[in-house]
Amino acid sequence: MHIHVFSSEAELAEAAARRIVDRVRHDAEAVVGLATGSSPVAVYAAWGGQARAAGLDQSGVRGFALDEYLGLEPEDPRSYHAVIRRDAVAGAGLNPDLVRIPDGSGAPGAAAEYERAIRDAGGVDVQVLGIGRNGHLGFNEPGAAADSRTRIVELAEETIADNARFFEREDDVPTRAITQGLGTIFEARELLVIAVGNAKAAAVAAAIEGEETELVPASLLRNHANVHWFIDGAAAGDLSAVPASD
Ligand code: F6R
Repeated sequence: MHIHVFSSEAELAEAAARRIVDRVRHDAEAVVGLATGSSPVAVYAAWGGQARAAGLDQSGVRGFALDEYLGLEPEDPRSYHAVIRRDAVAGAGLNPDLVRIPDGSGAPGAAAEYERAIRDAGGVDVQVLGIGRNGHLGFNEPGAAADSRTRIVELAEETIADNARFFEREDDVPTRAITQGLGTIFEARELLVIAVGNAKAAAVAAAIEGEETELVPASLLRNHANVHWFIDGAAAGDLSAVPASD
């Protein structure tokens, strides 16, 4: 596990983006796993900036989003279809035709089909992740099995409360979602976990230094051979030993 601590979100974003851009430089058809939420927005923008500056052709880069709410139309601006189009596709400069997002319509077979699509693409090379205040990854809430696959899940109350900021009322937040499982996510060859701000400090410390348990999904990251944490000073605030800054 590699822990990189930065004094600013801008530096963090540039460093995380460099890892993705290096991958794309080596493989024009690289497969990148895409998280939504606030944490990766600056990383996607930095990725796009670096790719443009380097004149990198990203038309063959493939993407797979982690999750989608159940019951929102893809055109709904609050859906993760819309968020991925806006933050990841536009931010990083990706070909929208090659970016897949789980089907939130509840159609039978959608989860298995998503797993198949990731497998058929050869798996994910670099997966971008955020972390929930309760340690969730994707929408794998506390208690999710380490070997879980893409499936429909119930959102934790804390997640609904946290995500209410994107909706008019908390009651409008969908209570169910389709998410890649932890087993699916952990098959990615490299994981980049982004955490910014002191609201994430407790979750980061629990994931890195606490007990390894399914009750803190991000603590299971320790079993992965190639994890890079990109955290700012505030998110690193509860770590007992803060690694030297990058
Ligand atoms: C995003 C996702 C979530 C978020 C997490 C952190 O696709 O599945 O796990 O990464 O909730 O969200 P932010 O970055 O908004 O704090």
